[in-house]
Amino acid sequence: MTSTTPLSAMSASMALSTPALVVDLDVLDANVAAMARLLIGTGKTIRPHIKTHRTPELARRQLGGAAVGLTCATVGEAEAMVHAGFTDVLIANEVVDPAKIARLAALAHRADVTVAVDDPEPIGALSRAAIGAGVTVGVLIDVDILLHRCGVGSATDAVGLAQVISRSPGLHLQGIMGYEGRVRLTEPHRDQQISGAYAALSAAAAAIRDAGFSVETVSAAGTSTIAEALAHPEITEIQAGVYALMEPELLIMDLPFRCAVTLRGTVISRHPGRIVLDTGRRVVGMEYGPPTPVGFAVHGIAMGDEHATLTMDDPLPALGSQLDLTPGQVRTTFNLHDHVWVSRGGHIVDCWPITARGSSQ
Ligand SMILES: Cc1ncc(COP(=O)(O)O)c(C=O)c1O
Repeated sequence: MTSTTPLSAMSASMALSTPALVVDLDVLDANVAAMARLLIGTGKTIRPHIKTHRTPELARRQLGGAAVGLTCATVGEAEAMVHAGFTDVLIANEVVDPAKIARLAALAHRADVTVAVDDPEPIGALSRAAIGAGVTVGVLIDVDILLHRCGVGSATDAVGLAQVISRSPGLHLQGIMGYEGRVRLTEPHRDQQISGAYAALSAAAAAIRDAGFSVETVSAAGTSTIAEALAHPEITEIQAGVYALMEPELLIMDLPFRCAVTLRGTVISRHPGRIVLDTGRRVVGMEYGPPTPVGFAVHGIAMGDEHATLTMDDPLPALGSQLDLTPGQVRTTFNLHDHVWVSRGGHIVDCWPITARGSSQ
């Protein structure tokens, strides 16, 4: 057990104090191994996105094989991972605030740090911070390939940024990235959307190379587009994250990953045709709908802050008994917990702190 294990939660013959987040280590390890198998022979690497769980011990199990480091969404996540001993982090997001740029440069003393940019403005500040700290910071030019969130809108703009970065001491132009977002199986014109996204990424890479710069890394893809990204010759690195823990809505895709996370709750109230669990919205992300029961059937779930009311047929579970639910949204669920219990073969074997929980800055 880690030193942060809440031992009080381990009483009552290993019944957990609930609500409790639990990861099945066998499923997690199988998902990571399945991803490693997918990468074999592709020449591509994976840099798992740890925004999924913000948990160093989970990230540790994702390394090995073709994994080259971690992807993070915030400077705070990157700091937590470097503090936990990781030595190669990509912040696949724009960082423009001077205070965060200073933290990022300081971090580069202890690890290889790469950051995304989509505007010339922060490049000067990044360069000055890197020189001041006596470090080199890697830079990926972020290209808007589908999501219309961050990223330059054209290959011409990407070349413009490459020119600025190449003139900026303390910075190393590592390559480009593009994130196509979750492209669901039911998305109309899904194939065209993904091929259009990767064509935009390839066009940016080609234009930057034509302008005389090298593009070592072309990073892209989330879990929903792993298959397409692995088949695309331009992409060198996958930045998917959810694959390790999986979410129910992705199970309809032909992916070799299973759901590894459950939320354990206790029956705190019983009435004809319904029970109440202590697992409300404060402990489970609801963006993709309510959590789904594991191994038992319900007619519906109504979620309150601290309560999940499950309508179901007799026989109802006993008062005080514990039931498991699968969260629809793993990322926001993890961010609501201080630690995750670890199970293997149905037994709780460890408890890991979600160290970067709340590290959104
Ligand atoms: C920029 C970026 N890259 C990669 C990912 C990982 O995608 P997924 O969680 O679907 O694997 C995300 C997730 O939101 C992301 O924002």
